[in-house]
Amino acid sequence: MGARILGTGHHVPERVVTNHDLEQIMDTSDEWIRQRTGIEQRRWVVPGTGTAELASHAARKALEAAQLDPEEIDCIVFATLSADYFFPGSGVLLARELGIAERGIPAFDIRNQCTGYLYALQVADAFIRQGIYRRVLVAGAEVHSTGLDHTTRGRDVTVLFGDGAGVTILGPSEDPERGILGIYLHSDGRFAEKLMIEAPTSREQPHISQPMIEAGRAYPSMDGRFVFKNAVRRMPEVVHEALADQGLRPQDVDHWIFHQANLRINEMVARQLELPPERCYRNIHKYGNLSAGAMPALLDEVVREGRIAPGDLICMAGFGSGFTWGSALIRW
Ligand code: UT7
Repeated sequence: MGARILGTGHHVPERVVTNHDLEQIMDTSDEWIRQRTGIEQRRWVVPGTGTAELASHAARKALEAAQLDPEEIDCIVFATLSADYFFPGSGVLLARELGIAERGIPAFDIRNQCTGYLYALQVADAFIRQGIYRRVLVAGAEVHSTGLDHTTRGRDVTVLFGDGAGVTILGPSEDPERGILGIYLHSDGRFAEKLMIEAPTSREQPHISQPMIEAGRAYPSMDGRFVFKNAVRRMPEVVHEALADQGLRPQDVDHWIFHQANLRINEMVARQLELPPERCYRNIHKYGNLSAGAMPALLDEVVREGRIAPGDLICMAGFGSGFTWGSALIRW
């Protein structure tokens, strides 16, 4: 028995940070950010709010959509690159936030950055197919803002990212034609350092120190052009892989949910695949890049706007740090 999506939810913090707000704290411009990325604003938490807390708000909305109580969840799979703690993971904290920690259900953390949601989805799908767990909560959430360099030194990365969460509840699909058709994942660790946060690091004692912080090693670093080039190559590649495996063509897909790293990346991917722009959804202009939260948050928006009808075909695809990339085909 395959898995299908029972409910979706997303949540972003209230505080809106526009490109003009960023102009006040670093040497950047609204024009530069819009032209290169399509981002107009993003949401930042008030420091003190952690990733699991953000995810808990999205989770409650997804549970409501699925008409389930938190007690009915059998397993949590939590994708994030900005966990509340170095350890333990945010999955256990999400169970606690939902008031179900005492039930003792398993909670996984998945560390695959912008592709993390797709990795989490495959884990959940496999559990349900095997009959190991029935109802799995898949979270993708990030609090980036508190870990970004808010000075001009960090502008190439800081302007790109926002805080937010998306949650998807999965359960068994009674109809073999509907649900998750396939998930296709890849990684290439040769380029691990092309987009990373280096510290805290187990390679040094202590894992983090004042000199490391001052050298900027606790902030994200990225070779933007290199990442961009690889994203526009790998995303169409993994979409073709998914479609070929399922005997489908791009024109069979009704809705395209791409990772929201840069509008230009997604426009280039859509052009390569010859996709109708109105079927390629986006929320990057208002949220920036939510990493693991991006695809589930966008899926939830599209679902809540009533755009997806039963039987529609959804294709998701993303690329990110690792490098990792992947795609998913879902029959609604
Ligand atoms: O989700 C994970 C995956 N991440 C991505 O997919 C991101 C992929 N990369 C990108 O989206 C793009 O590479 C960026 C949007 C990050 C950068 O665009 P770019 O066209 O590759 O710019 P660049 O890094 O080559 O920088 C061009 C110029 C530089 O100045 P000079 O050397 O030409 O004088 C930068 O210093 O733009 C400057 N610059 C900025 N200027 C104003 C870099 N960041 C900024 C900024 N504001 N925020």
